[in-house]
Formats: sequence, structure tokens, C-alpha cells
Amino acid sequence: MMQSAESGRLFPLHWSSKSLRFQLLATAFTVLLAVSIVTLWAANRYAHHTAQLSYDRSLGGAAFQIIDNVRFINLSWVVDIPLSAFKVLAQSPRDRVFYLVVNEDREVITGYQDLMNSSDITTRIEKHTNQLEPSASFFDMDYRDEPFRFTIVSNSINTPSGLKDVYVLVGQTLNSRQELKEEITFQAQNLVVLVILTSLTLTLLSTWKIIRPIRDINKKIAKRSNVDLTPISHQGPQEIDHLITTINRFMEQLDTTLRNLKNFTSEAAHQLKTPLSGLKAQAQMALDSTKDEEATKHLTHVLTACDHLDRTITQLLNQATITHRHRSLAPSTIDLNEQVKSVCRDLAINALSRGVELGYNESDTVFVVGDDFALSQMLLNLIENAIKYSPDNSAVDIFLGVENNAAVLRIQDHGDGISEKDKPHVFERFYRSPNNTSQGTGLGMAIAHDVATNFNASLTLEDTQPQGLTVKVTFPAGSWRRV
Ligand SMILES: Nc1ncnc2c1ncn2[C@@H]1O[C@H](COP(=O)(O)OP(=O)(O)O)[C@@H](O)[C@H]1O
Ligand SMILES: [Mg+2]
Repeated sequence: MMQSAESGRLFPLHWSSKSLRFQLLATAFTVLLAVSIVTLWAANRYAHHTAQLSYDRSLGGAAFQIIDNVRFINLSWVVDIPLSAFKVLAQSPRDRVFYLVVNEDREVITGYQDLMNSSDITTRIEKHTNQLEPSASFFDMDYRDEPFRFTIVSNSINTPSGLKDVYVLVGQTLNSRQELKEEITFQAQNLVVLVILTSLTLTLLSTWKIIRPIRDINKKIAKRSNVDLTPISHQGPQEIDHLITTINRFMEQLDTTLRNLKNFTSEAAHQLKTPLSGLKAQAQMALDSTKDEEATKHLTHVLTACDHLDRTITQLLNQATITHRHRSLAPSTIDLNEQVKSVCRDLAINALSRGVELGYNESDTVFVVGDDFALSQMLLNLIENAIKYSPDNSAVDIFLGVENNAAVLRIQDHGDGISEKDKPHVFERFYRSPNNTSQGTGLGMAIAHDVATNFNASLTLEDTQPQGLTVKVTFPAGSWRRV
């Protein structure tokens, strides 16, 4: 598991990390390409062979017709070349035809005499053995500066001085053969292209069909809320069903673990609360009944520690509740202006007791979507901090408005502020500035940060001039609306 994740990161361009669709298509394409190269090569060979065969046949036919009409009459050779002999050859108007009839003494009976000048032809005649059944042989040769295909046939003819061999040569230029070959090749190419395009389309469609169940599942999972760990229902190919079963089993375990964890935090908090109130009550009673100065001092410490513990437990419980509600409750639309005002009212006595003047200014009406309990906890912690860390008889000002399409809430105090060094840490759980002497749990800012995240908002810390802290909560466009 670890191994594959590692290698996936190390070689992000590795073949196996490409999409399945890409892999399938690339493989199909490569196979088709190889097949088409072989097919085209075979088609080319076939075209050549077919053209040669059909033109050789007519060339041989002409030669046989000529030789059938060679006679020896009145002591001389007579050739009565029938028109039909060249009829078939004349069907290729762009080609030229030459012929020659010679006897075994190399005497030209009729035809193109200059053919006998070629040593190639004389050796061919010599080599052409006259069999019982006359046959045609073929050869390629350049003649009159053009490539030619020649055929040679022979026959033995009765003469008063016995049987004499006669040879007939017919040659034709190659234009029509070439054309036929090209035509066949062209047709074959068309066929191959058609087959490849059809195969590619079919491959594309089938890939899409094969991949679809995976995409469907992906969509199903993506559409779920982040807390939905119920089994995914799916009917599909076996391999994917196996995967889903495994994922479902994993989610079931995760769900149980999460539920246990959630219950643990809140149960632990509840469990602590009861003995703690008992302890507090006992300490209070002891304090009330003693006159001893030393004991009074210690009991007061115990009570303070109890208060601190109580506050910590409450904050822990709040945080667990916020997480639980975020995961399980449907978000509602909240009037942010109203919420801020309500929290200010709740904290007014607290502020008054310190002489802190709590001011509220709004320049827009803002509605946000989420959990109202969580939002009130964020506001409570932030405004409480502002009051708590303000000097006596100073002012805390709250501004709510819209800037650059974002709803912005600013909580501004004039206390000591937070040093640059501490700023990145105050959102951590239980973190408190080292020079902070006041009572506190270090959980308030962590809760505020969690809630801001749940609302897709951001929490930033700025300095108030000349001194103090301004906490800025920014709800970006899309996470709030005006009505
Ligand atoms: N308005 C503020 N002015 C100065 N310091 C602040 C302010 N708000 C928070 N802090 C610092 O951030 C720390 C974390 O805040 P918080 O999580 O609310 O814990 P605490 O219980 O200490 O208030 C505080 O200990 C304090 O040092
Ligand atoms: Mg606080």
C-alpha cells in the first residue's frame, strides 16, 4: 500500500498512473497501427501480384495467338498476325507494344528487328526450351529507354527439312500495370482506413462503457456529504463490485471508529462535569466553614482551579458538539448581523464590568449558511477575547460590511495584541501566549478557526493602530448572500 503510493508520487508520469481510458485507447491504437502497417504491406504485395498476373495473361495470350499463325509455306515463313492478337493489349491505350518473330536460326521473320540487338533477348531465346506443351516465360527489360515486360513463347513447326523452332516475343510498357496496381492499393488503403476508424470508434465507445461504472461510483461518492459513511449501493462488473465491497467494509469500520471517538469526547466531558461540581460544592462548603487564613487561601486556589477545569471541559464539549453538528446537521441560513448583535448583548455585562465599551457598526446585511450554534461559539470566543485582552476603560469595535464581494467582520481591540511570533500558533489547541497572565483554556481561538473553516471563511489577525488586535473574518463570495 505504502509502496505503491510512494512510487506513484515518485513517477507521476508512469504508464500505470495514466487513466484507464488512456491506457485502453493507447493499447488499442498501437495494436491497430501495427495491424494496419502489416495489412497495407500485404495489400501492396497483393496489388503488385494481381496486376502482374492479369497483364501477363493478356501478354502471353497475344504471343500464343501470333505463334499459332506462323506457317512454313512454299519454302518461306509466313505469319498472318490476327487483329485479335493485339485487341486485348490495345485496351491499355497508354502502353506501347512491340513484337518479334524469329526462327531457330535467329532469322527475323517479322516484327521489330532492333529487338535482336539486345543481348538480353538473344540469351532469353536461347534459354527458352521448347517443351511439348508450349509455355510462356516472362521477364522485365529496358527497351528504347522505357521499362518493358516481355513474354517469350516458342513452337516447333513442320518444314520440308524437318521440325523447326519458332520464337515469338511480345513486350509492353508498364503504365497500365502500374495503374492497376495503384488502383488496387488505393482501394485496399481505403478499406484499411475505414476498418481502423470503425475499430477506433468502437474501442472508444466500449472504453467509455467499461469505464462508466467507475465514473458512476466516483460521482456517487463525490455527491455524498463528508459525513455519509453508509454503504455505497452498486451493481456492476465483478471487479468493481469487489472494490465497492472492500470500500464499504472500510467505511463501516471507519464509521464505528468515528462514532466511538465522538461519543468518547462528549461522554468524557459529561463524566468529568458531575464529580467536578461535587468537588466545587465541597470546596465552597469548606471555604464557608473555615476561619483559618491558610486554609482559606488553599481552598480559594482549589475553587479557581475548578473554575478553570470547568471552563476547559465546557470548551472541549463545545468543540465536540460543533464537530458533531457539522457532520450531522443540515446547514441553515443565518442572519450574521443578528448573531453578532445577540453575542454582543450576551457579553455586554462582562464588558461593562471592565469598563470596556462594546461598539457595533454594520454597513450591510449578511446571511451565511451553516450551523448557528457553531457560528455563535466562534463569535463568542473572538469577542470575549477582545474584551478580555483589552485594558480597562477602552473600546472594542465590531464592523460588519462587504468588501470586494466578500463579507467581512472585524473585531477590533486596543490591548497588547499578538506578537508576530505568536500569531501562527494561537489557532492551535491549548496554545496561550507565554506572557499571558490571565485565566484561559487556550481553546477559544482553535474553536473559532474550526468554525470559520466550516463556513468556508478565513480568519486573519491584524494589528490595530497604534496598538491592539483586529481579528478579521472573511466570508468569500459564494459563502454568503445579502438576502
Ligand atoms: N484579542 C486578543 N488580544 C491579545 N491576545 C489575544 C487576543 N485573542 C487571543 N489572544 C491570544 O491568543 C491566545 C489563545 O486564545 P484563546 O484560544 O482564546 O485562549 P485563551 O483561553 O487564552 O483566551 C490567548 O492566550 C492570547 O494570548
Ligand atoms: Mg479565549
